[in-house]
Amino acid sequence: MAESLTITDNRTGKTYEVAIEDGAVRATSFEQLSLTADDHGLLVYDPAFMNTASCRSAITYIDGDKGILLHRGYPIEQLAERSTYLETAYLLVHGELPTPQQAAEWKQEITHHTLVHENIKKFIDGFHHDAHPMGILISTVGGLSTFYPQATDIHDEEQRRISIYRLIAKMPTLAALAYRHSLGLPYNYPDNELSFAGNFLNMMFKMVELKYEPVPEIEHALDVLFILHADHEQNCSTNAMRAVGSSHPDPYSATAAAIAALYGPLHGGANEAVIRMIERIRSVDRVPEFIDGVKAGKERLMGFGHRIYKNYDPRAKVIKKMADQVVDVTGSSPLLDVARELEKIALEDDYFVSRRLYPNVDFYSGFIYQALGIPVEMFPVLFAMSRTAGWLSQWEESLLDKEQKIARPRQIYVGEQRRDYVPLGQRTSAIDQHAG
Ligand code: CMC
Repeated sequence: MAESLTITDNRTGKTYEVAIEDGAVRATSFEQLSLTADDHGLLVYDPAFMNTASCRSAITYIDGDKGILLHRGYPIEQLAERSTYLETAYLLVHGELPTPQQAAEWKQEITHHTLVHENIKKFIDGFHHDAHPMGILISTVGGLSTFYPQATDIHDEEQRRISIYRLIAKMPTLAALAYRHSLGLPYNYPDNELSFAGNFLNMMFKMVELKYEPVPEIEHALDVLFILHADHEQNCSTNAMRAVGSSHPDPYSATAAAIAALYGPLHGGANEAVIRMIERIRSVDRVPEFIDGVKAGKERLMGFGHRIYKNYDPRAKVIKKMADQVVDVTGSSPLLDVARELEKIALEDDYFVSRRLYPNVDFYSGFIYQALGIPVEMFPVLFAMSRTAGWLSQWEESLLDKEQKIARPRQIYVGEQRRDYVPLGQRTSAIDQHAG
């Protein structure tokens, strides 16, 4: 065997040969290392998947040490500068950049699926006025599955295609509905003549004007943010999408699960948490005290650190540059000054340097959203909208992968051994139950 491991099990003295494929060994190769015939063999223990590849994927490549991010081979910096969100979404889903005809068809399909059933609006009306828009998004995306029962036919390519159009197209509509509901404003219908980002701004901000005209710079900045969030290989929400998808529900239900995973402050909720943290710090002179608190373990510096990037997140580089440009237009922000000071101190401090903690995508994105007039609660919603293309491409790849099955990890049981039930009247304490 050219690429292999030779393992000696010191419990038995037996030696095994385990194949190495693409820099990995199969966890099931270790099943053969057993003590007895009925022992199921050695398990591989990896809480939080620190060193476990869960799939083979051809969608996104990350080199965390070098700070490289490629979608289908294309560097994120080139996509951010030269592509559009819709084109990048096509690339993620189909594997290649579209020809002009494919691009026009894709745009036409996405544009013509932006409307949601009127009953969805009634459903949203039932939420409390201050309901968090992520809660509304999770529920309405899950609810969409009830409007499209054919979507459960996930083995039919045509059904998958339509679900992909619908989800990418309707996500901005649902996001904007959630926002308008929170303000008690009338809902805006999509405007099919506008770009993906322009239409989103229209549904969010149109008031009484007959035609909403997005400011080109704002429309562009938003589209770039959408591109930067479009996919990021096997992160927590994508893992949720694949895991839930592996039991073969419709993609709306799996996407609702992915949005729920994204909601947490350690993942997509981080951009909201960054702004709240910086609002708390308030001024540059309070930064050293805050950093001391982080180093003492009181809290985390939100927007810093990443499981994979041990270098500056390449998306954060693009966003930082954009934040500077946006602030040039909208005027300087005292909060942005606090963020810059935090970054400066953290990048020089041994605590952060030794742990290789650098700004991630969420450190500066919130400032751009804020400058665009988007409220903090909507930040993770925008992240979910953008990530939908990535989730769907990963979901379809997983479904078509012959090696994939229902996701079902093993465990190491550390609980009680078998014991007999103690009737209620005889239970006085846990000790008695053990004695029993
Ligand atoms: N502030 C302070 N210390 C940190 C931070 C931070 N933001 N992140 C990690 N550390 C420390 C951590 O305390 C640990 O120190 P020690 O070795 O002394 O115990 C060490 O660095 C390693 O941390 P970890 O928790 O083992 O790392 P992880 O890979 O499990 O966590 C992370 C990755 C992103 C959850 C974490 O860095 C974090 O909580 N960051 C803040 C939240 C955030 O910005 N999330 C957005 C991530 S990027 C976008 C996305 O995925 O949605």
